[in-house]
Amino acid sequence: MHIIVRENAQEICEVAAALVRAQLLRKPNCVLGLPTGSTPLPLYAELARLAAAGQADFSQVTTFNLDEYVGLPREHEQSYHNFMWTNLFSKIGVRPEQVNLPSGIATDTAAECARYEAAIDAAGGVDLQVLGIGHNGHIGFNEPAEAFSEQTCMVELTPSTIQANRRFFETEADVPRRALTMGIRTIFRAKEILLIAYGAAKADIIRQTVCGPIQPGVPSSVLQLHSNVHLLLDREAAAALSL
Ligand code: GLP
Repeated sequence: MHIIVRENAQEICEVAAALVRAQLLRKPNCVLGLPTGSTPLPLYAELARLAAAGQADFSQVTTFNLDEYVGLPREHEQSYHNFMWTNLFSKIGVRPEQVNLPSGIATDTAAECARYEAAIDAAGGVDLQVLGIGHNGHIGFNEPAEAFSEQTCMVELTPSTIQANRRFFETEADVPRRALTMGIRTIFRAKEILLIAYGAAKADIIRQTVCGPIQPGVPSSVLQLHSNVHLLLDREAAAALSL
């Protein structure tokens, strides 16, 4: 793992944006895998700034998001569709046909998962996958489990994830209990992975991700086996690593 530590989230996201920009320059029609959550927001702001300044061209990219809540239509304020259009897509000039997210309201979820997986394959696979990380090591919405998940699938969210997401909804009952997510294997097949974490609350899970046993109980630990991972951390998130 290639570990980069900077002072704060802003500096981290400047490094992340530089890596995304390098990818765009290498391959203008690349496939980007994108996360939601609070972690990527400074990165998305930086990418929007670069696009507005004519320093990053997203006109030929294809994007695939990691996940979407089951039951939320794309117009819902808390859907990941809405999150992405509000925080990134509308600011970097991409067209709807360039972006992909699983549908949270598909009646046949198995078919929707298979469709999503096939669309990623048809696009040639993800070139650069950006990831955040949950406090329990979930990536996408792949929660700790008995086995690493494979393809895009429907998952039950754990009580701790429901609690963490509670802040975005009016009541706890409104927080979706299930999500569609790229599987661990789907994520692992990306050619390059960028995992971003900041804040003291992520220090322990970052230690487990980097130095702990590789086990499905800590889904992010599988990244130790990937040959092209950058871990971008602020000092607080890196605090439990002996660097
Ligand atoms: C959600 C998303 C993940 C994200 C995680 C962490 O669970 N599905 O992709 O990494 O939240 O969120 P945050 O970045 O707000 O800590």
